Amino acid sequence: MTPTPSRKTPVTAGKTPIDKPIVLVGLMGVGKSTIGRRLANRLGLPFVDSDDEIEAAAGMQVGELFENYGEDYFRDGERRVIARLIDGSVKVIATGGGAFVNDETRSLILKDAMAIWLDADIDVLAERVSRRDTRPLVRDTDPKMVLSELAAKRNQYYAQAPIHVQSGEGAHEDTVDRIMEALAQ
Ligand code: S3P
Repeated sequence: MTPTPSRKTPVTAGKTPIDKPIVLVGLMGVGKSTIGRRLANRLGLPFVDSDDEIEAAAGMQVGELFENYGEDYFRDGERRVIARLIDGSVKVIATGGGAFVNDETRSLILKDAMAIWLDADIDVLAERVSRRDTRPLVRDTDPKMVLSELAAKRNQYYAQAPIHVQSGEGAHEDTVDRIMEALAQ
């Protein structure tokens, strides 16, 4: 994991100090990694992606982890990696779509971080996930159906995030603007 550089100036959104890690949660394809990287840039903070960290720790892609060891093994790694990333240092963390469903991970994020639910219409998500075949849960499936089922199960958890921002088809920077506004409230 990249060590967090020490900062001399406090990070703020407007006048609001950012003194906790910011954690992006939400379904696959919503843009947690892309938006997260841009948000981190805007705030001058480090960015980490929990799936990348799991892959680095396992020396294997998420798809291979699912295939070789099963989803439960992946979920256990995901829980441990996120607990390690929430170490008190301020950064932006993009999580995999299932991370916030885990009770332990969700409690930790709600206690020690600032969770942001990035949300979009199922059609937009389905179109985005269809562009790549790296996600085991939607590989060889009807992505719209799978994403609708996941939304029905998971939205109750994502809704516990104190900030809810739409990430539609518009420019990523517009979504970052909306997050910055919400953080400044
Ligand atoms: C998953 C989402 C993926 C990845 C894994 C499982 C999920 O991450 O963690 O394929 O359960 O929704 P993204 O949300 O970044 O695609």
